[in-house]
Amino acid sequence: MNQLLSALRAAGESTRLRILAALRQGELTVSELTQVLDQSQPRVSRHLKLLCDSGLLERHQEGAWVLHRLSDQPGIHDIVTGLINLIDFEDPELSRDQRKLNDIRKEKAKLAADYFSQHAEEWDSMRVSMVSDTDIENRLIEIFSGSSIDLFLDLGTGTGRILEIVAPYIRKGIGFDLSREMLSVARSNLDNANISNCTVRHSDISNINLDDRCADAIAIHQVLHYCDTPEEVIREATRLLKPGGEIVIVDFLPHDIELLREKHAHQRLGFAKESICHWLERNGFSLINHEALDANPEDDTQAELKVGLWHGRLQSQ
Ligand SMILES: C[S@@+](CC[C@H](N)C(=O)[O-])C[C@H]1O[C@@H](n2cnc3c(N)ncnc32)[C@H](O)[C@@H]1O
Repeated sequence: MNQLLSALRAAGESTRLRILAALRQGELTVSELTQVLDQSQPRVSRHLKLLCDSGLLERHQEGAWVLHRLSDQPGIHDIVTGLINLIDFEDPELSRDQRKLNDIRKEKAKLAADYFSQHAEEWDSMRVSMVSDTDIENRLIEIFSGSSIDLFLDLGTGTGRILEIVAPYIRKGIGFDLSREMLSVARSNLDNANISNCTVRHSDISNINLDDRCADAIAIHQVLHYCDTPEEVIREATRLLKPGGEIVIVDFLPHDIELLREKHAHQRLGFAKESICHWLERNGFSLINHEALDANPEDDTQAELKVGLWHGRLQSQ
């Protein structure tokens, strides 16, 4: 009763309702919310504090950024979603907020797209210098060679490296990527390796033009840290997988290397084991295994950088 009353008191104000509405699509920083709401930063911070104190929002620090998101706590999460379902998104003020939010998201996506269009040709050597692939690639081969895979999807395929290594173990593979430049390198890599059972297509990985439940296995390798709303990508993978289908996500574990955000277009400084586990579970996966690997064991300067591998299976409903 007390929790409900305090949540309702916190939400019962127009700016705070607008904040809840804006956060329904994913996490935002104070400065992004300031742009959406067109209010001063101290004012927005005061509203955010109230919402966090009431339990409706959670905040977490990631390098220099503080990100806010709707609470995932059992009980409170139902209150937040209940409130959001009551909001009229046709309201002129909320429509204006949504347009600003779309602009912010487009701008962030453009940063990553520009980065990959500029670096497509040298990406393969850049990737190897940042992360030692051998251990991870061996693990992917172990996982995907163990099951019978008719259709394999590689979300954010880049230069097609993951398709290249799993091609011998699958009947057919399709890679998806937003960067036409990366896709053109992927096509020539697959050609040069004489791989004829894999193709690549241009697509946003949060909205892929394939039927529900078409795929046996999905990989999302070093992609989520470029995504503004990573859970949307996991949700799309859920839609595409057959019940019992397997997903492998590989990404950085939390780190503080701001340079990756400033110079290499990363949106997120890695992900906690629990964050991705939580998204997987919420979307109907059971976790088969999680492991942490050194990003580049031979390079002391990258000692901080660790890579996580999450392996899950979509439960049959
Ligand atoms: C670091 S590369 C990884 C490529 C590949 N998975 C690998 O490990 O070699 C990230 C790729 O994700 C793609 N990407 C990021 N966001 C995307 C989105 N929303 N839709 C499609 N591709 C996306 C980028 O264009 C880029 O090619």
